[in-house]
Amino acid sequence: MRCMTLVALLIASGAASAADIHAYWENHCLECHGHAGAFARDRLTVEDGVLASDRWGTRLERFLANHYTTPATLGPIVAMLTAQVTTPPLYAEHCRSCHATAADLVRNSVERRDGVLYARSSGQALAPFLERHGGLAGEEVPVVLQVLDRLVDETLAR
Ligand code: HEC
Ligand code: HEC
Repeated sequence: MRCMTLVALLIASGAASAADIHAYWENHCLECHGHAGAFARDRLTVEDGVLASDRWGTRLERFLANHYTTPATLGPIVAMLTAQVTTPPLYAEHCRSCHATAADLVRNSVERRDGVLYARSSGQALAPFLERHGGLAGEEVPVVLQVLDRLVDETLAR
């Protein structure tokens, strides 16, 4: 609760909109496009590392520059969507049924110390935890860890 209030305050002041790119999406894009990961995987592609769509091709970023983004949020939004297109939806398939969005899980329950991810409340390392929690196959664990690690940066959950 305290955390949500802080996020809301930062957004109201405009400070977190550039920082927590998932909060920016939730406040400026979600009402029309739904969750970012599902939208990205459904509608967008990546061609030679460049975010694209059927409609705009690789000029998509130029369209987005005039579509609810700011100069400060355009780059992080494009990076987030690019990462989502190129990552399998393991979180949606294995975790969403019990947890909220991956961004919320990371904000509330994950922290990174010396490059290693831990559960915030119990303090246990996430790598061994996810070997037995959430029903991931062994080779899927590092993929989900990488997604959560990226989300630590994208939500500034430190
Ligand atoms: C008021 C509604 C609305 C909001 C808010 C909105 N969009 Fe859109 N967006 C649209 C519409 C309408 C289109 C064009 C029709 C379509 O492609 O669905 C579109 C198109 C897009 C496309 C291109 C899709 C394609 O297939 O070419 C992207 C990417 C996109 N929006 C991202 C965003 C992002 C990022 C934000 C927030 C920063 C955002 N939108 C906010 C309504 C909205
Ligand atoms: C069947 C429901 C369920 C699914 C599916 C599930 N979780 Fe959980 N998760 C829980 C519950 C309940 C807790 C709190 C109790 C606990 O720690 O086991 C939890 C706790 C956690 C924690 C905090 C652990 C701690 O020590 O504080 C993390 C991180 C987490 N889950 C990540 C994930 C990820 C990532 C996935 C998908 C790979 C996932 N969970 C799938 C129910 C689920």
